[in-house]
Amino acid sequence: MAKDTLSITDNRTGKQYEVPIWEGTIKAMDLRQIKADAEDFGLMTYDPAFMNTASTKSEITYLDGDKGILRYRGYPIEQLAENCSYLEVAYLILHGELPNPAQLEQWTHDITHHTIIHENIKHFMQNFRYDAHPMGMFIATVAALSTFYPEANQIGDQDNRTIQIQRLIAKVPTIAAFSYRHSRGLPFVYPDNVLSYPGNFLNMMFRFTEMQYVPNPVLERALDVLFILHADHEQNCSTTAMRAIGSSKVDPYSAMAGAAAALYGPLHGGANEAVLRMLAAIGDVKNIPSFVEKVKKGEGRLMGFGHRVYKHYDPRARIIKKVAEDVFAVTGRNPMLDIAIELERIALEDEYFVSRKLYPNVDFYSGIIYQAMQLPTAFFPVMFAIPRTVGWLAQWQEMLRDDEQKIARPRQVYLGEDKRDFVPMDKRKK
Ligand code: ACO
Repeated sequence: MAKDTLSITDNRTGKQYEVPIWEGTIKAMDLRQIKADAEDFGLMTYDPAFMNTASTKSEITYLDGDKGILRYRGYPIEQLAENCSYLEVAYLILHGELPNPAQLEQWTHDITHHTIIHENIKHFMQNFRYDAHPMGMFIATVAALSTFYPEANQIGDQDNRTIQIQRLIAKVPTIAAFSYRHSRGLPFVYPDNVLSYPGNFLNMMFRFTEMQYVPNPVLERALDVLFILHADHEQNCSTTAMRAIGSSKVDPYSAMAGAAAALYGPLHGGANEAVLRMLAAIGDVKNIPSFVEKVKKGEGRLMGFGHRVYKHYDPRARIIKKVAEDVFAVTGRNPMLDIAIELERIALEDEYFVSRKLYPNVDFYSGIIYQAMQLPTAFFPVMFAIPRTVGWLAQWQEMLRDDEQKIARPRQVYLGEDKRDFVPMDKRKK
């Protein structure tokens, strides 16, 4: 009869072992018993970049990269993007269930009433250089928040965690908008509690002298959908950073600053910024073939293409293409779109990209939308960090509640020098 186990023969010793298979995995610690001799440490797995390692169990986000499926708590991303607000989805991601009307009202109230930041944080942000990258300001300011809420290090206390989670989700749009206003030399705009989460963000970004800022409903909804699409994406680079840093039991502000730093890189959330720089460098549809040839020769990457997990069209990219049409109906068509569409068409027919299963990812079109909304290119990663805050926090809390988790501490295969004696300065090679 078939058994859920794996039989291993160690050809060094001839010994046989049987280890359990659970949910398509074996436990790496079950290999430790396999030793060449009594002195041996025991067998480990070697997996740079976690290509084939499940670092946690999780109930938050389901992703099937071969089929192009993304679900939060079981709900398909397409249905959530069609029917929900970002705050509704944030509640779902954190709590596991969609809120009923009373829960959504309370949740919206709780988030709306934590949007203001301490005046000293404002002064802190004013002291960045005029041309500071907004993502650098965002990361530093999130880290600085831990000094304003020192009780946040009581991470074992559920009530305490809940208030810090609400604060972070509420304050990230304020910090983001202040970083934008600072880089433009504009006065900061305080939150307006009568507006929706994305509406208030637009207010803090773009309000000038109006007594009451009225967001454009199409842009407000487009932003809500973009926030939903970016809310969580299971164990990606920044979420792994959040879990690893959080596993040392540091406060959530410090852990989230680290996660945001991981997001900043051009291979992750910084890709939307890199896509726009790439499209601008291509400049014209006629230059696409020569650009693609360079990529194929290994001279740079097609930014916004490829994904560690998706080997199929990223379902978020499909939804974003539709959002782009809605936004352009208001803002006018972004000329970069023509270059992007032609680039996508050529790449999807090219053997290099087809054989490597490289498809557009979420970042390929998001930057074009943000640019049409008058956001500067350097600000795009911040637009990713705002909604991903809830994913980071939900994953962080899940990690804290998981009895199997401990401080993250991988092993290494040491290949350096064996023991050798110290060489005095005058005896070292010139
Ligand atoms: N352009 C050209 N070639 C690519 C690209 C790309 N965008 N992505 C992967 N490849 C090629 C690699 O050169 C490699 O080819 P080879 O087998 O001939 O050496 C092959 O495809 C596999 O690439 P890896 O780097 O091994 O794939 P990995 O899973 O490590 O990388 C990543 C995934 C980082 C997303 C990669 O596809 C990439 O750099 N993309 C561009 C940056 C980007 O858009 N990042 C955003 C990701 S989505 C997000 O974070 C929200």
